Amino acid sequence: MSLDHPLTLGIETSCDDTACAVVDKAGRVLASVVSSQLNQHRPYGGVVPEIASREHLRNWPAVSHEALGAAGIELQEIAAVAATRGPGLVGSLLVGLSLGRSIAWGLGLPFHGVHHLEGHLFSPFLRSDGQHAVPVPESFEGLVVSGGHTSLLEVSRGEISSLIETRDDAMGETFDKVGKRLGLAYPQGPRVDLLAERGDPDGFCPTKPKLKKDLFFSYSGLKTQALRAIERLEQETKLDVSRIRRDQDEVPQAALDLLAGFRRAAVGQILDRLERRHNVRPFQTLAVSGGVAANRLLRRELDRWAGRRGIDLRLVPLTFSGDNAAMIAFAAVERQRRGVSPDPRDVVVASRIPFSRNSQ
Ligand code: KG4
Ligand code: ZN
Repeated sequence: MSLDHPLTLGIETSCDDTACAVVDKAGRVLASVVSSQLNQHRPYGGVVPEIASREHLRNWPAVSHEALGAAGIELQEIAAVAATRGPGLVGSLLVGLSLGRSIAWGLGLPFHGVHHLEGHLFSPFLRSDGQHAVPVPESFEGLVVSGGHTSLLEVSRGEISSLIETRDDAMGETFDKVGKRLGLAYPQGPRVDLLAERGDPDGFCPTKPKLKKDLFFSYSGLKTQALRAIERLEQETKLDVSRIRRDQDEVPQAALDLLAGFRRAAVGQILDRLERRHNVRPFQTLAVSGGVAANRLLRRELDRWAGRRGIDLRLVPLTFSGDNAAMIAFAAVERQRRGVSPDPRDVVVASRIPFSRNSQ
């Protein structure tokens, strides 16, 4: 395969995955390595920030070595460096950003500090088969659904503005909390999704939040209703939650039905907001990304919904739905293509970096 130089090295350490990738000028992913810290955090049921930063430091040498090896290149062949500068866990971000800045400094290369959501936003244009990326349109809308975000954003010539945000919990966080209440292991979202495939969604029909004029996402009401329903189920059926923990076949049907109803409501809310927005300003290209973009029902429903309306739907390839460094490198490749100047090498991390609000 002929490489399209220059090559960009991507680094992502905003939460609990240590990731390094190499992407060429055409958006070809030459290597994308993600080292998960799941085993370190699992005993605590969630990510422990202190452990995460320590693990990033420990994992980096092996992860970067593996990425360069898989790409078949030496570090000296890299022409630009990109690292996530936020939002995320400050200690974890500091590790990746400092590594990226040091490499750029040491080799005299341009450096890009990339917003984590900017990475997710462009990831649906990446291909998982080693081919060059799909050309990114000048303007598109992006839905980012993850453990920390539920955002509909607009990208226009690289400028990002927010259209619809969650007022409370993020979609992935809600999946995690409901799954945790059933004793499922972290991260609970993919497990809830898998179990919900076997349930009858009519077994649990939560009420929907009322919307006024403003469009927003809200998941705390659904979460509370699901948690109460689990409690009722336990009382009525004397359900043994520890049986569910094993993720085995014997999960009671009533629990599967509950999860199916919960998932349908969670996905339904996304479709409802997209439809309302589409009726006001039709989508042309909608790029869907983030960990929750792996959700089976969400993918099926979006596919059908967008197909009927003639919308160019870009669903992130499953390999790049969760946090990864290819998306960070690719966001920087896109910046370079648009002629954006690199960031100063002393750019700092930020735990929160809001986009401008766009209320059109
Ligand atoms: O993008 P990501 O890897 O990290 C963040 O930036 O948050 O997303 C992780 C989130 C977790 O909440 C995880 O439970 C959720 O994505 N997730 C899912 C599925 N796969 C991952 N939620 C629902 N269904 C899935 N299949
Ligand atoms: Zn993410």
